[in-house]
Amino acid sequence: MTSNVNMEKIVSLCKRRGFVFPSSEIYGGLASCWDYGPMGVELKRNIKDAWWRTIVQQREDVVGLETSIMMHPKIWEASGHIASFTDPLVECKSCHLRWRATEVDRDRCPKCGGELTEPRMFNLMFKTLMGPVEDEAGTIYLRPETAQGMFVNFDNAVTISRRKLPLGIAQIGKSFRNEITPGNFIFRTREFEHMELEYFVKPDTAKYWFDYWVKERFNWYTNLGIRKENLRLRQHGKGELAHYAEDCYDVEYLFPMGWSELEGIANRGDYDLSQHAEYSGRDLSYYDDESGQHYIPYIIEPSAGVERSFLAFIIDAYREEMVEGEKRVVLRLCPSLAPIKVAVLPLSRNEKLTPLAREIHKQLRSNFMTWYDDSQSIGRRYRRQDEIGTPFCVTIDFESLEDHQVTIRDRDSLAQIRVPIGELEKTLRAKLNGEPFDVSSLWATRQK
Ligand code: GAP
Repeated sequence: MTSNVNMEKIVSLCKRRGFVFPSSEIYGGLASCWDYGPMGVELKRNIKDAWWRTIVQQREDVVGLETSIMMHPKIWEASGHIASFTDPLVECKSCHLRWRATEVDRDRCPKCGGELTEPRMFNLMFKTLMGPVEDEAGTIYLRPETAQGMFVNFDNAVTISRRKLPLGIAQIGKSFRNEITPGNFIFRTREFEHMELEYFVKPDTAKYWFDYWVKERFNWYTNLGIRKENLRLRQHGKGELAHYAEDCYDVEYLFPMGWSELEGIANRGDYDLSQHAEYSGRDLSYYDDESGQHYIPYIIEPSAGVERSFLAFIIDAYREEMVEGEKRVVLRLCPSLAPIKVAVLPLSRNEKLTPLAREIHKQLRSNFMTWYDDSQSIGRRYRRQDEIGTPFCVTIDFESLEDHQVTIRDRDSLAQIRVPIGELEKTLRAKLNGEPFDVSSLWATRQK
């Protein structure tokens, strides 16, 4: 089963409307690297803000952290990444393309049919050199996950937050993986952003918190508008678990290429803190003053990718609809995620309308992310806003000069209401917070 939208349409919309461009495009691009345009950065920020609000701001038991990308190389020995963060790689003896062995179901190259080599393990971490001397002693790694920075700061977080377990540490930041086969647009890339929570718990409560976080994370996506029928949970089989995991569920989304991982929620047991205690020589056990016990906390880890969420939110919001015999493409994004909340559109570029429209725009933009557009017909401007998912357009017409009212157009129902300029900001705020678009009463206002 695949979703109704094909990836070409999404890639084209993302390019056309300034969400995502190929990186280094004027030099021919760089494989699997992407740049985020004016709409893309806003959507990304909104996704990260929504995650931070639910995971950190609205909770008493989670604190934030920002750790460095480059860390002590021993961290990656302790974590098991040097030994185990590998994929089996096969290479075509004719065209030299490389494949993840798990992706090819025959012993022939999927591209040219050439013979494939025996699989060898390929480490996915990017290596680089720190300092001015180019020798092995300076080898460091770009982090492949933000998680390790939080494990090695567990002691700091407990001390500074003065909180007891369960305690979570949250971080959003870039990670790097030298993926053998990146692809499917921004689904699998070599540079991406992680949103990770490391939730430290008493070992005998780990099962409870694991189930709790699996539910919470599933609901986070549906609360932000993803349709339930396009999401599912899948438990990892024993052979599939990462080297650190005791149990793991993936939240999967029905992408155009089929059901694929959106986020993983793992029970990492006491693996991480035990390993770092052993390799660093620091005691990372926790003293529980209620039970009078020392123990190594278990870690429950919901780990999501910003770009994968970005892709799922756009795909799920994408609709092609017929409106009065014409096709419109609309992104029905949840208003909190929409890059632009309000577009200000004077009916035309007439010199009488412009000052009022500019004044309204100036007022609104200190409170909302806005866009001012006075080029081309009003119909085309509405369509442009529909394609980037703007929930509301405010139109200023010649009547506005007389009655000091403007029209608000709703992206989803296409309904329009007329409101006094003095009430515009309050009305928009209420609508963005979910107040229904009650057409009847406000049209009545207009008739007066
Ligand atoms: N710390 C645990 C961890 O990193 P993971 O399952 O490897 O777990 C978690 O990654 C999430 O990060 C994935 O569900 C996905 O959303 C995102 N992710 C992982 N690799 C990615 C890549 N190469 N490109 C884009 N996103 C990626």
